[in-house]
Amino acid sequence: MGKYRTPKASLDISRRIFLHRSAVMLGGVLLAGPALAAKLGCRPTASDILGPFYRFGAPFRARLAGPDELGDRLVLTGTVFGSDCRTPLPGALIEVWQANHAGLYDTNKPGNFTEVTSFHLRGMLYTNEKGQYEVETIMPGRYPVPPNLPGLEKYAGLTRPAHIHMRVMESLHIPLTMQLYFKGDPFIANDPWAGKKPSLAIDLKQDGKLRRGVFDVVLARGL
Ligand SMILES: [Fe+2]
Repeated sequence: MGKYRTPKASLDISRRIFLHRSAVMLGGVLLAGPALAAKLGCRPTASDILGPFYRFGAPFRARLAGPDELGDRLVLTGTVFGSDCRTPLPGALIEVWQANHAGLYDTNKPGNFTEVTSFHLRGMLYTNEKGQYEVETIMPGRYPVPPNLPGLEKYAGLTRPAHIHMRVMESLHIPLTMQLYFKGDPFIANDPWAGKKPSLAIDLKQDGKLRRGVFDVVLARGL
């Protein structure tokens, strides 16, 4: 940091300046080509780790939490787009998993992705014909990083911000794994994952007894 600037950092800055000048230079063209304008500001959604509590094979359902589930009700909606940030992707497969209101997952066996028990607060769903999804659930609780996780030993005991895990797959795009956080969570800043991914934090709105969040996803093209 400080005054020292790595060659890569210089390159990044040069690239940004170049892109900025390109946008200015292409101003007249941009007015005639909104698709190009969109493309210049368009980025694939940031990716994040899968985490130790992923489990393969959750049932198909968009309602993760039944009426008796403790916690504040949350409805998460959004659209999955292709790499141009404009083309909706119907039929994208979304996997969602999260902790309960007390910060507990339905398993306490980290890394056992194929463990077969009943799935709780997990589900899979497809985006509709407009590329949209809607998940009904509860606000997840925070939890500490478990001890003795290979590679994560130094983070043991660190309280993670509340988050929902999501993984999106579509046949012509690169699968994307995310952790979705919530703006204003004081545990985001010191979290080794959330702290570096501000674009994955959702702004929640209160709607009667519901909290609502919108999160659109942009997948990177695989070709
Ligand atoms: Fe998690």
